[in-house]
Amino acid sequence: MASLTIRKLDEAIKVYLRMRAARNGRSVEEEVRGILREYTDGGLQPALPSPQQTAAPAPHHAPVAGEARVTLIIGGGIAAYKALDLIRRLKERHIRVRCVLTKAATQFVTPLAASALSGERAYTDLFDPESEFDAGHIRLARDCDLIVVAPATADLMSKMAHGAADDLASAILLAARRPILLAPAMNPMMWSNAATRRNAEQLARDGIAFVGPNAGEMAESGEAGLGRMAEPTEIADAAERFLRPAEPRPLSGKRVLITAGPTHEPIDPVRYIANRSSGKQGFAIAAAAEAAGAEVMLISGPVGLNDPRGVSVTHVESARDMLRRVEAALPVDIAIFAAAVADWRVANEGEQKLKKTANAATPQLELVENPDILATISKLKERRPPLVIGFAAETEHLIDNAKAKLKRKGCDWIVANDVSTASGVMGGDRNSVHLLTRNGSDIAVDSWPVMTKEQVAMELISEVAKRFGKSAGTAA
Ligand code: C5P
Repeated sequence: MASLTIRKLDEAIKVYLRMRAARNGRSVEEEVRGILREYTDGGLQPALPSPQQTAAPAPHHAPVAGEARVTLIIGGGIAAYKALDLIRRLKERHIRVRCVLTKAATQFVTPLAASALSGERAYTDLFDPESEFDAGHIRLARDCDLIVVAPATADLMSKMAHGAADDLASAILLAARRPILLAPAMNPMMWSNAATRRNAEQLARDGIAFVGPNAGEMAESGEAGLGRMAEPTEIADAAERFLRPAEPRPLSGKRVLITAGPTHEPIDPVRYIANRSSGKQGFAIAAAAEAAGAEVMLISGPVGLNDPRGVSVTHVESARDMLRRVEAALPVDIAIFAAAVADWRVANEGEQKLKKTANAATPQLELVENPDILATISKLKERRPPLVIGFAAETEHLIDNAKAKLKRKGCDWIVANDVSTASGVMGGDRNSVHLLTRNGSDIAVDSWPVMTKEQVAMELISEVAKRFGKSAGTAA
């Protein structure tokens, strides 16, 4: 049996694998095993289901790779008109929709409307001479990743619970080997009727999922209660959860603090000292940590970027403001200091705008050192985050300077990057970094290939997730 060394793979493949692994919260090796397993499961299984497979009643609920496909069965009720909107909501989520209408449904909406909205032929008949499918109901039941029934009428539920197959919709539901999601819609009296209760319980026992019904006004005037079909967006959200279950979130339960961007150190009310940091790398790390499930606090100097979704962002100006906000955010599990904090500020900051007057001497700026936020937090006795990560932006002797910085500042890891003008890192979209990790007095250096700042962020967060293990709780 041949063996495979991941280290020897193509750089591009390694980057791809690292990204996939980061996204799934797995090691690269586990990811490769998963890919091989997916391949053999998908590609080498027998074409026909085995007897055990045929016997298994529970629907298969696995994430769908590529474009997801839904067979939407539209039942015959007044809520059928909402099924047309549901087609739109599913398509917005990049889900292919193929519609099947019961005979009663065609009294409320036309197959033409369903077909125009879905962009696919809509089906109505069990015996259809024009169908391109052989045994059409079997193909419609299986050539999809999920079957949604909306509206699921009391009659359709009854047929399903009893295994009827006398029309195309019920035949598909009986032949289905995919998950089925029902959105019931009926008069409250019908929903609460003992027969419907029995049918719903039986269907739930058979592994069928439900969304709704909701309470509210009925189409019949003056009637209200439980029986209104769930709204199309609710049904589409529920369908999406089936098709794309949430990915593992390896940093859930962890608090992550990130600094980003430059600081502005005032000279007078209108002038300041700044640097060229764009904040892109820190913002990308915040987004990656959020995607990994962490509670993220981002403290940013002045940047021209949108706040990342789901992240609590505090905007500051100077190094001293940034330190105050960082201290206020403690305790955290992980602190990542990606900001390019100004080393000095102006000691004699003018209260009024400095004036250029004839014959007056050129003003002299006196500089005073700013607090070092990374060093301050790394050296805390109490409330020191279990993992403190700094950045070292260097223009020469990158690794040696970064090693010295790691020791001097007292942090645990340093992300070292070359910010010489030739590298184009400052303000650019790509980054070439080395991760220095300290283990006692040993420092390990891992050099990464050139990647986008988003990729660097995902890599870094994947390393953090490994350090903390997958489960939430205290630091490993
Ligand atoms: O000393 P130098 O500025 O190169 O150190 C870079 C690292 O230290 C970065 O992680 C940066 O965010 C952090 N730093 C800081 N406060 C300062 C200066 C740097 O947190 N005043």
